[in-house]
Amino acid sequence: MRITLQDVEYRYQINTPFEHLALHDVNIDIEPGSYTAIIGHTGSGKSTLLQHFNALLKPTKGSVTIGDRRIESGRKEKELRGIRSNVGIVFQFPEHQLFEETVEKDICFGPMNFGASEKDAKDRARKALKQVGMAEEILEKSPFDLSGGQMRRVAIAGVLAMEPDVLVLDEPTAGLDPRGRMEIMDMFYQLHKERGISTILVTHSMEDAARYADEIIIMHRGTVFKKGTPLDIFSQPEQLLELGLDVPDTVRFQLKLQKELGIRFERICLSVDDLVSEVKTVMGRGNQ
Ligand SMILES: Nc1ncnc2c1ncn2[C@@H]1O[C@H](COP(=O)(O)OP(=O)(O)OP(=O)(O)O)[C@@H](O)[C@H]1O
Ligand SMILES: [Mg+2]
Repeated sequence: MRITLQDVEYRYQINTPFEHLALHDVNIDIEPGSYTAIIGHTGSGKSTLLQHFNALLKPTKGSVTIGDRRIESGRKEKELRGIRSNVGIVFQFPEHQLFEETVEKDICFGPMNFGASEKDAKDRARKALKQVGMAEEILEKSPFDLSGGQMRRVAIAGVLAMEPDVLVLDEPTAGLDPRGRMEIMDMFYQLHKERGISTILVTHSMEDAARYADEIIIMHRGTVFKKGTPLDIFSQPEQLLELGLDVPDTVRFQLKLQKELGIRFERICLSVDDLVSEVKTVMGRGNQ
């Protein structure tokens, strides 16, 4: 499912003394089956932007097209439920939204709310729990008896049980330990690859953006500052550093070697293997 934003503006609390312009002149096209990372400073508008992808927020100017539905400012919308079940959002700290007595009821809540039968919802709950790497035994437990990492997985299972075409992830691994982070990021990547789920990831991790995304969008002060492939984006590391953003470790290492040893690299490397082969090339050149 394609998602297109045209000239989107969003103002919080419009026409009040607290009005705040959070997005302006945003033009974005998310292709079906793509993996997009959104990076940018705190307050640059990332979370506000995400909520336009399933019409939780409607633009105060411009339009958002989600599949065959067009959402425009000033136009009354009928029935947005279809969109909500097609585009699943995993919010920051999704475990804060767990509320049912059992894990099973919690995961079944979304599908049943959207018309699935109890049996269908329970089947989906089992499947979703497996996808997030958890055993069926916990279905009967209270979500509040689980560890923080397990609660996070249950909350994610609740979104997966909706079987969305598009997954929108707002820093899904914030606060997890490195191993938990990697397991969850790999799980999302597998879902993306195997099922062709379009994935939109907001992250502060430049490593994750470089590793998983086809396209990176940099948000700055409420608008798109730049978009491109990870190579495009990280080939101008100075620009990112000027914006107060980070670069992947491999790029930082290259910059440091460049600065301290005067080594000139032909290209930017986004993986350790790539960096090793580039260093070999440069050293080979030096020996000649
Ligand atoms: N409910 C709200 N009412 C008024 N202003 C808001 C509201 N939510 C966010 N804002 C403001 O809108 C701007 C964009 O906020 P947003 O949460 O989208 O940023 P973000 O890029 O997600 O930041 P972070 O990296 O901290 O999550 C900020 O200036 C923020 O203070
Ligand atoms: Mg945010």
